[in-house]
Amino acid sequence: MTSPIPTLSLVDTDPAELAVDAIVIGVHSLNGDVADGDGGSLLLASGAESIVAAFDGRLTGTLALLGATGAPGEVTKLATLGTITAPVVAAVGLGPEPTGAAPPPETLRRASGASIRALAGAGTVALSLPLPDDEDAPAAVRAVAEGALLGAYRFAGYKTKPQPGRRAPVGAVVVHVPDAAEATAEAEVTRAAVVAQAVAQTRDWVNTPPNELRPPAFADAVAAAGREAGLEVEVLDEDALREGGYGGILAVGLGSSAPPRLVRLSYTPPEFDKRVALVGKGITFDTGGFSIKPAQGMWEMKSDMAGAAAVTAAMLAVAALRPSVAVTAYVPIAENMASATAYRPGDVVTMRNGKRVEVLNTDAEGRMILGDAIARACEDGCDYLFETSTLTGGQVVALGKRMAGVMGTPELCDRVKAAGEQVGEPAWPMPLPEDVRKGMDSDVADISQVNAAMDRAGHMLQGGVFLREFVTDDVPWAHIDIAGPSYNSGEPTGYLAKGGTGVPVRTLLALIDDIASAG
Ligand code: BES
Ligand code: MN
Ligand code: ZN
Repeated sequence: MTSPIPTLSLVDTDPAELAVDAIVIGVHSLNGDVADGDGGSLLLASGAESIVAAFDGRLTGTLALLGATGAPGEVTKLATLGTITAPVVAAVGLGPEPTGAAPPPETLRRASGASIRALAGAGTVALSLPLPDDEDAPAAVRAVAEGALLGAYRFAGYKTKPQPGRRAPVGAVVVHVPDAAEATAEAEVTRAAVVAQAVAQTRDWVNTPPNELRPPAFADAVAAAGREAGLEVEVLDEDALREGGYGGILAVGLGSSAPPRLVRLSYTPPEFDKRVALVGKGITFDTGGFSIKPAQGMWEMKSDMAGAAAVTAAMLAVAALRPSVAVTAYVPIAENMASATAYRPGDVVTMRNGKRVEVLNTDAEGRMILGDAIARACEDGCDYLFETSTLTGGQVVALGKRMAGVMGTPELCDRVKAAGEQVGEPAWPMPLPEDVRKGMDSDVADISQVNAAMDRAGHMLQGGVFLREFVTDDVPWAHIDIAGPSYNSGEPTGYLAKGGTGVPVRTLLALIDDIASAG
């Protein structure tokens, strides 16, 4: 069962009169100055007018005394003691006021998420944040709603006793808009709930301990979720994989007592122009195999199925949103272990598309299972292929913990970047240089799995170059390396909790929307 998300509704009544446990308003810092005691460097954002009036001019000064500076992510709570209906007002920092415009969607999304997280323990929370009154309004409503639902996420965990003092996540979110009856605002709220549910499902799978989610169990969960959503589901077990010549998935799965799987989920609308394929890496645990990883941080490799979780959850959202694009997800699942039956450096593996791969490092297992899944997707036929995986530590070195790396057809990489920017999941296009491919020439097989001299130069790019070998020539494709952004090993921030982030579910959904409307 997926972690619950709060209920979500719209209101257009006076925020000062809302019967909720807490109301969130925005506060800007003025010119980035540090606040002084009289609130002279704080500016209450639009949406807060009636609350400001109820406090009779004392609100900014009091917030400043409480330490508010308007910095992004900062939440200052204040008892209202009868001045307004809600017993608590929370001012969330939005940074400096943008000149002549409402804050950008990602600022609203983060502020909304941070305030809902800070208000855990409250049953119902209303948000009255600054919204634009032009054509940007729907995107802003979506951002506030999404941020709130994502910010309320908490993984249930496995503690045997309830934690004293731990406050329950907010149960109901109310978004204040100028006109609650407006159809576009309602559509955004409906969509935000579907999207947040998909993100929560992704986070849950990523956060689940690896002993609880070994390949057959994960494949069953993916298949069951797909069936329940009304998708067409096909599961290839180890026999079917052998029969089908999926050498890469089988090789990685050899080391584990829990056999590998390939799950296929399809959504076919009554009418469509384009077919999209999604492929996601599903390594339920990555020890590295015989090229074993150091103990420090190895436990985080329970998140090595984040790509699989994301494409599956995106399919669940697609089934609910029903875009006019056909979408099929390919989810290869295996556990990368070291054992008497495991694959080894030096092995040559024949992949689904017939190419022979020389294994040099068993820790480069992701590309082995993905090569097979990509080849299958291209056999089935598609107009666009998006693959996402926690593929390389090199992604984190090159771009950090928040920015995904994108490789593939340049035009599609640009679309991924634009979609990521729109939803707050940044991604940056990276090249696939010829010299990197040259370095992967094998003495004995068609290609080495990594640089033939095990040179780590262009580490992330080696992954992309390898995967390209399995894409049919004319298919536009993009590989999204999410090793960093799929998992938050730091403290909660904005709408991100600790652990799984749900990246890149919202990017994939934005891309599908984009393809449905622009082709
Ligand atoms: N799952 C890892 C990549 C990874 C690293 C994800 C850190 C998240 C955080 C992947 O299978 C791996 O082990 N990659 C190797 C590739 C190398 C052996 C070519 C790596 O990054 O070192
Ligand atoms: Mn690995
Ligand atoms: Zn891995």
